[in-house]
Amino acid sequence: MTRLSRFDFPEGFLFGAATAAYQIEGTSFGTCGPSHWDSFAATPGNVVRAEDGSTACDHYHRWPEDLDLMAAAGFDAYRFSTSWPRVMPDGVTVNPEGMDFYDRLVDGMLERGLRPFQTLYHWDLPSALADRGGWANRDTCHRFADYAEAITRRLGDRVASIATINEPWCVAWLSHFLGAHAPGLRDIRAAARAMHHILLAHGLGLERLRGITKAPLGIVLNFDHATPASDAPEDLAAAARQDAIFNRWFIEAITRQAYPAEAMLGLAPHLPEGWQEDMATIGQPLDWLGVNYYTRHLHAAAPEAPWPSTREVPGPLPKTQMGWEIYPEGLKGFLLRLSRDYTGDLPLYVTENGMANADTVEDNAVTDAIREDFLFAHLAATREAIAAGANVRGFFYWSLLDNYEWAEGYDKRFGLVHVDFASLKRTPKSSYHALARAIARNDREADR
Ligand code: FCB
Repeated sequence: MTRLSRFDFPEGFLFGAATAAYQIEGTSFGTCGPSHWDSFAATPGNVVRAEDGSTACDHYHRWPEDLDLMAAAGFDAYRFSTSWPRVMPDGVTVNPEGMDFYDRLVDGMLERGLRPFQTLYHWDLPSALADRGGWANRDTCHRFADYAEAITRRLGDRVASIATINEPWCVAWLSHFLGAHAPGLRDIRAAARAMHHILLAHGLGLERLRGITKAPLGIVLNFDHATPASDAPEDLAAAARQDAIFNRWFIEAITRQAYPAEAMLGLAPHLPEGWQEDMATIGQPLDWLGVNYYTRHLHAAAPEAPWPSTREVPGPLPKTQMGWEIYPEGLKGFLLRLSRDYTGDLPLYVTENGMANADTVEDNAVTDAIREDFLFAHLAATREAIAAGANVRGFFYWSLLDNYEWAEGYDKRFGLVHVDFASLKRTPKSSYHALARAIARNDREADR
């Protein structure tokens, strides 16, 4: 496979890696309040080996080493998240120690020439707010705006970009309808409310931040190619329903101030009263859109099941350690579909793309050739989308480090850098070195 380099992308294209607070920091360090992920993990059956984020990668103490690794690879930008319960342990009261941590972290990025791409909410909802109904409760949206304002008053003069929410589909559907992530509900009414409230939180957050920071403001949505399991009309319709719930709900609310009819069929009866009046807040202009892309899923009709009456069918393509099919064409497809149907010239960033693999350290090194292939195939897909007209401005690999993969615990390794979870030792993998070579500038030597 031809391996692209920095010079195959437009001038100014940013290469980075992404992480999230709960997955790497260690919530037992500093004064961090409890979040719904702690209680979800402490409930039997939710997370592999009931693991939680209390230690994670101990990035809380080891962040200088981690940022050094990013700088040594020649990255331009680092996508990280700030933890709401670290900044506000009870969800509402500012914790100076938490604020100071992020202050040091952002300065550490700037000192190393890394542009800070901040995400405000990457899933760690303070328990005090979860106790009051979490995302099913409209009040949480206002509390989110308060948090967004407080942290931005502290960091907003230095961060290069701010995303309100990471992956609203996961926050709402995966967590309130499928029950796979915290708070682990399987309830269509709570799901519908969360589907709306997470967008309202985004809108209220944007409103609050305009004027107090010059950082470009956006949101990070995830997209999963909804492939019909067969050509049968019922399966085409099943895939279209999944596409509406997963891929269209959020972007259409934001760019058209409307929800797709196929999803409203099941969700409309459960939306909070007066939801229409929120659509203008939700549909405020963005400065950029983040696109997370991993895989596709095959959907078939399941007429015996209640709405959305679909079931997943295993696909034939090679799979990652997560069991996700490797399908780079889907990334190109979404970048082009988004530009064509929704975002026009708005800058797009691939804010997450990566794969899990059962990597092991041998002789102080990790060879993950399969991840190198995955990475370069998705960079090629991104470049093709740019060549076909999509305004893509950057690519962030998920993830810098092996980390806490939510319900999968520490089992699934997504990192460019291996982490030994007993010693916390970091070992850059061959994919890290391959990416460093690809993005090296003429005037600097990449870490080989
Ligand atoms: C995304 C999440 C990220 C990570 C990857 C594998 O859905 O945003 O935190 O878990 O998947």
